[in-house]
Amino acid sequence: MDVAKLRVNGKRLRGTLEEMAKIGATPAGGVQRLALSDEDKRARDLFVGWLKELSLEVSVDEMGNIFGRRAGRSNNLEPVMMGSHIDSQPRGGRFDGILGVMGALEVMRTLHENQVQTERPVIIVDWTNEEGSRFAPAMVSSGVWAGALERDWAYGRTDINGQKQGEELARIGYQGKLPAKKWPTHAYYEYHIEQGPMLERQGRTIGAPKGILCLHWYDVYLAGEANQVGPTPMEGRHDALVAAAEMILAVRALPARMGGNMVATVGEIQNYPNSRNIIPDRVHFTVDIRSWDDEHALKSWDLLKKDFQDIAARHGTPIEIDETWRVAHAPFDEKLVQRVLETAGQLGCSSLHMVSGAGHDASYMNQVCPTAMIFVPSIGGRSHVEVENTRWEDCEAGANVLLHCILKTAGEK
Ligand code: GLV
Ligand code: MN
Ligand code: MN
Repeated sequence: MDVAKLRVNGKRLRGTLEEMAKIGATPAGGVQRLALSDEDKRARDLFVGWLKELSLEVSVDEMGNIFGRRAGRSNNLEPVMMGSHIDSQPRGGRFDGILGVMGALEVMRTLHENQVQTERPVIIVDWTNEEGSRFAPAMVSSGVWAGALERDWAYGRTDINGQKQGEELARIGYQGKLPAKKWPTHAYYEYHIEQGPMLERQGRTIGAPKGILCLHWYDVYLAGEANQVGPTPMEGRHDALVAAAEMILAVRALPARMGGNMVATVGEIQNYPNSRNIIPDRVHFTVDIRSWDDEHALKSWDLLKKDFQDIAARHGTPIEIDETWRVAHAPFDEKLVQRVLETAGQLGCSSLHMVSGAGHDASYMNQVCPTAMIFVPSIGGRSHVEVENTRWEDCEAGANVLLHCILKTAGEK
């Protein structure tokens, strides 16, 4: 058969995505499938069943990463990998992560039904806890697999209720025996929605990021002094929430103050005891800083940290800071990125060379092997929200680009 003419089945891909979207469906049309929740387990079970239908060799490692291996003609050659993540944000969307896993599954199905034999083995992967929303940090299991993060540190990370990531992994039955340890890999492709507005604004269908920004995560803890709000004079208060408010504004001002390409965000906050008539005595909030320039992000953090310390001293609210996680910016393999652009052109799709502001497991995979990503447009540039949406035709187009990138790369001797 002429493999150049092969195409995925767009209708089947849509059906698969719609079936997955039922697991953890939210009233406003999104999904909530937090890492290692019951919904994550149900989605994994469904996914594993689908892998088995294709007679793939399925394995689960000690971080719960799920792999499905399809043999090639030369099984001594390093495999090509493709995948993304099944977990979602709280009240997240129906495409983030799952498109890359179901798109890769559609590629496997297409190879299977057409009895295509590739030179190299091809492996599909679902990485555990990419989002980092329930258990920080993000991309933790590709990080452990790549050798950048420690397994036991990852196991010990807790959610807001104090549940440990390792225990939750065991509870849902996905703590496998296989060591979470990289193997020699020829290349990795991750198919994903863009999660931003660039493709839509420029009227292009396929994005090929040249890489991913660095991601730096911090956790800030403030201690104040609780008291009755009525009788306590305004002077002399130690209000942890007021101190936090000043710090949050300093984060908001940071990119403009520093210049350069950077974004900085506080997305999560807990305030205690969280009663309208008690002065807050304990606050936790997070800081997320991203840039293409790692040094710029670090220098900015140093200044911000100094501001935090000054603000805390002024309010008399002792501060503790955890430098929770850093992943360097990831410049992808240029040859592989060109292959994505070229393949899009061959399939009649317009394309855009761009940058990924969102984090992906591809950041860590880029430390293991040549890596590239394939983006498709997010309607309205919206993501990590229930209205997250992508046209079905675009989902199909991206899966076809993935199929042909895999055919080319897995065909290399
Ligand atoms: C991952 O979803 C991130 O970009 O934070
Ligand atoms: Mn994602
Ligand atoms: Mn995400």
